[in-house]
Amino acid sequence: MTKRVAIFVSGGGSNMRALVEDMTGDHPARPAVVFSNNADAGGIAWAKAQGIATAVVDHRPFKGDRPAFEAAISTALAPHAPDMICLAGFMRVLTGAFIDQWTGRMINIHPSLLPKYKGLHTHARALEAGEAEHGCTVHEVTAALDDGPILGQARLAINAEDTAETLAARVLTLEHRLYPAVLRRFAAGDKRMVDVQGA
Ligand code: GRF
Repeated sequence: MTKRVAIFVSGGGSNMRALVEDMTGDHPARPAVVFSNNADAGGIAWAKAQGIATAVVDHRPFKGDRPAFEAAISTALAPHAPDMICLAGFMRVLTGAFIDQWTGRMINIHPSLLPKYKGLHTHARALEAGEAEHGCTVHEVTAALDDGPILGQARLAINAEDTAETLAARVLTLEHRLYPAVLRRFAAGDKRMVDVQGA
């Protein structure tokens, strides 16, 4: 049965776009809704233009009351009946209670070769540490931040002239290859690791 996917974005949504563009033909999933905490997210405008359903819940009025924010998210998602969630540059931390409702059905992309460099500023931190390689990871979401079973990684060699900005751009290109490849497998129930080598 085709899986209905909710994609969560906070910004430009280039990963969301890569996922949506891949969900055609014999793909085992289809986009059900693009959700954001930010009405001005570029990803929301793009999804609307494609005729994809969108939903927005601004986190700010909740003033840090995460359970109330998440209750509003669940209410907004319900009419779209998603089977799974892809976090794609969603910049809000979700509580364990929300994550537990989606165990085994929620995945995320993170711009580092996990378990290295959880959290923010991953590119600068990889450079600072003198890493020879860097990349991105798609993983199942569990209550611990940027943790959970790894479903795929894409890696590249860091060049002497790389800056945090050039690395971010190079890794983002890899993200757009890795995330759709993982979603295709995962939505079909296949959790084997996807391994992508980048340039
Ligand atoms: C990506 O680098 C993603 O890994 C990170 O935030 C960025 C989102 O980019 N979590 P986009 O909104 O998909 O263009």
